Amino acid sequence: MAKFLVQKSGPLNGEVTISGAKNAVLPIMAATLLTEEKCEIRDVPALRDVEVMCRLLESLGATVNEDLGRNKVEISAAGSISHEAPFDLVKMMRASILVLGALLLRTGRAVIHLPGGCAIGKRPVELHLKGLKALGAVIDEEKLQRGIIDASADKLRGATIYLDFPSVGATEVIIMAAALAEGTTVLENAAQEPEIVDLANFLNKMGARIKGAGTDTIKVDGVTSLRGVSHNVIPDRIEAGTFMVGAAMTKGNVLIKNVVPDHLKAVIAKLKECGVDITMDDDGVRVRGDVNELTATDIKTLPYPGFPTDMQSPFMALLTVAKGPSRVIETVFENRFMHVGEFNRMGANIKISGNCSMIPGGKALKGAQVVATDLRAGAAVVLTGLVADGITEVSQIYHVDRGYERFVEKLRALGANIMRVED
Ligand code: EPZ
Repeated sequence: MAKFLVQKSGPLNGEVTISGAKNAVLPIMAATLLTEEKCEIRDVPALRDVEVMCRLLESLGATVNEDLGRNKVEISAAGSISHEAPFDLVKMMRASILVLGALLLRTGRAVIHLPGGCAIGKRPVELHLKGLKALGAVIDEEKLQRGIIDASADKLRGATIYLDFPSVGATEVIIMAAALAEGTTVLENAAQEPEIVDLANFLNKMGARIKGAGTDTIKVDGVTSLRGVSHNVIPDRIEAGTFMVGAAMTKGNVLIKNVVPDHLKAVIAKLKECGVDITMDDDGVRVRGDVNELTATDIKTLPYPGFPTDMQSPFMALLTVAKGPSRVIETVFENRFMHVGEFNRMGANIKISGNCSMIPGGKALKGAQVVATDLRAGAAVVLTGLVADGITEVSQIYHVDRGYERFVEKLRALGANIMRVED
């Protein structure tokens, strides 16, 4: 199994270009099932999850030409499409659920074996199913008890749907199904993430009529067909935030290019509270950790536009070395503190009480053997490795490969002492 070896590094300096957003490209790729015409997607990050989605769409009958070296994927879901997603692919990526709405609409049925929970939580999908049932889908309840979604619908009709929680995946699955349903759908308490807006922009380019994406109420007027289009994926705000944190905690000076500052308001505000110097210029966002002393702040994760849960572990890496105590409250996932044990192996001395982690801060961390417990936590322990004395060995780095394109190369270009080694 591959590992990262990370040594204490000097300040990260230079510039880094952010890749396309994983959590935007995955639903957009799923949405190509809604047309028989070819779609060309650009600025696609070369990630393991994108490759799995390519294989999944192919297994359903689509023609996929991926050129990830040039960050491009062409998808043509012409002809007959299977209604069943193969379990061996679904178990590799829970985001496979994102094909549910499009598959149901395209074939009148969708069968997806649910993967179990994962490190960060049990990841239920009852809100996705609530929305599809409201649109007229019938769910086989007996199979659902066995972890198999078997949804069918001759026709989908618009409805008003309230989401008990602004679930990103449920919002995406529902607007994909509503796009070609008969009549109008109003989705209330919808997720507002920028990736939802990117999906809505892609669908509207295809001919859909979606309004309100990015707010908590999304209105979809169903149309009868959608056409193939080209689309450039938005930059990955979580990758950008991860490199901002890296620049800050190594007292570096890094220009982050290809980033939408508006997508990172909460993260930028919290970094500034910690004394990080952040300026915007035409080329991107400049982050300097070499201006002021790094001081502590408190974090509470919330659905967008609140502080993103995916930035919780990378930001906690910064708080382990910032001066003073801080608290991190995780409200989105029920079990997203698996990385705390890894930070503590490096001397962070963090205590957990319920959904709150207390970080004493100001620690001189020591290199250790640690594990990537999810894709963001894997990046986070690399960041602590950059400032810890000695060598940090990170295993289970397949998690990191899921969410960060050329992570080692981008860090090394900024002066980080990191290498990937095969066992
Ligand atoms: C998306 O996951 C992202 N993944 C996650 O990013 C991200 O952490 C998450 O949104 C929150 O922002 C992709 O976009 C592929 P949710 P998703 O449905 O859609 C509960 C990463 O790091 N919930 O908004 O699965 C759920 O259990 C990944 O790139 C229900 O209770 O997230 C969780 O506690 C990790 N019932 C909370 O909502 C449901 O029916 C947020 O889940 C659905 C969700």
